[in-house]
Amino acid sequence: MSASSMQVRSDLLREQNFIGGVWRNAREDAWLEVVDPASGKGIARVPDSGAADARDATRAASEALPAWRATTARYRAQLLKQWHVRIVASTEDLAKIISLEQGKPLGEARGEVAYGASYVEWFAEEAVRAYGDIIPAVVAGRRMMVVKEPLGVVAAITPWNFPLAMLARKAAPALAAGCTVVAKPAEDTPLTALALARLAEEAGLPAGTMNVVTASRANAAGTVAAWLADSRVRKITFTGSTAVGKELARGSADTLKKLSLELGGNAPFIVFEDADIKAAVEGLMRAKFRNGGQTCVSPNRVYVHDAVYKEFARQLVARVAALRVGPANLPGSEIGPMINFRAVEKIERHVRDAVARGATLLTGGQPVQNEIAAGPNYYAPTVLGEATHSMALASEETFGPVVALFRFRSEEEVVRHANDTPYGLAAYFYSRDVSRICRVAERLETGIVGINEGAFASEAAPFGGIKESGYGREGSRYGLDEFLATKYLCQGGLA
Ligand code: SIN
Repeated sequence: MSASSMQVRSDLLREQNFIGGVWRNAREDAWLEVVDPASGKGIARVPDSGAADARDATRAASEALPAWRATTARYRAQLLKQWHVRIVASTEDLAKIISLEQGKPLGEARGEVAYGASYVEWFAEEAVRAYGDIIPAVVAGRRMMVVKEPLGVVAAITPWNFPLAMLARKAAPALAAGCTVVAKPAEDTPLTALALARLAEEAGLPAGTMNVVTASRANAAGTVAAWLADSRVRKITFTGSTAVGKELARGSADTLKKLSLELGGNAPFIVFEDADIKAAVEGLMRAKFRNGGQTCVSPNRVYVHDAVYKEFARQLVARVAALRVGPANLPGSEIGPMINFRAVEKIERHVRDAVARGATLLTGGQPVQNEIAAGPNYYAPTVLGEATHSMALASEETFGPVVALFRFRSEEEVVRHANDTPYGLAAYFYSRDVSRICRVAERLETGIVGINEGAFASEAAPFGGIKESGYGREGSRYGLDEFLATKYLCQGGLA
């Protein structure tokens, strides 16, 4: 299916950059083909932008900045609310666009729209709460005040796995704070970002406050380099791999930008011997198979206590083997295609390596291609037993529908293994022992811990990691602060 043959509002299907309130082609008039991951076929084309387009976007954003930062928080909140209303009203259209270019089942794509919209609503509400402080003066005749000011132009670089939610959770707090935004969506999923920009335009966000440029994998680095080098861009907010996060940190060192980096995960999921096994299986299903395992908080290493290993594996395999693999628009599909063939190759490499090193294949373990799942990028939901730390999947994120079960025998041992990774985004554990819950939650070295819960993400909670999973928090009241500078005003001569 091509994007234009989809039954969606035609003005949401944009094939141009949005810069300074104008829809336009890349300066070089170059194009990037957007591909349906289910069929591998082209569905639309968008500009393949370069550094000159990125600079145009920066110019538009910095010209819009003085007027935007001078508006009241209440005014910005009202516009964000308008944006929110339009996103929610366009759920069906946006979900179809997400599914078409990203591949997740339509039901999940609707969920993503609601999830992304919740950040816009949340930050509309938070905009009016960017409070400062009055500090009791340390010297008579002085007033010591703290105010929060917008950082300036923000570059948002967003991933393909949640093309709407990740842009919403970066752009909404930036705009709420009084910053203006230049955004580059991932090359696999630009259409959703452009649709979101169209809705921002319709909501009345002033020209230049929200700009989107699209670029291919080959041109992405050059486009982003123009932002890294530009001192008008004061902040980079990025979700993606740790390798790229480090490049952004290095690349922005000369202009010392503030960074928020939401990077790789390699999350551990621990099932203790005192866990409610059925609840743990359900929690793992939710956490692992959301978006076909393509999320940065997907459990990558599942540790199960020896005493409950057999029963947990039995219940899990029954649930995983029943998952339905198919295209996003087929009712009942639970696992769509992976984003591209590179993703499938990585999954195959991990499974082959694990089996060669002694893992037992409990279900799945190969690509799927049949009359329903008819493209090159489907992979069977898979469970591997008896995984060990010598396997590639113990240290690299698989980013696919593969569960690897590791056996453990003591709390001390499993916490050590869980933390034995450079990453620290999310961890999960299931236990009914109250003292263990407090102990393990404290000892896990991650930014997020799911305790007897597989689905923790929420606009009201801080999302982000420690160690090489990055820094900065998205969502919650902490999320607004990432886009604000703290200014201290010291007024003397008042005695
Ligand atoms: C991500 O995978 O980058 C984000 C997932 C989430 O928000 O839950």
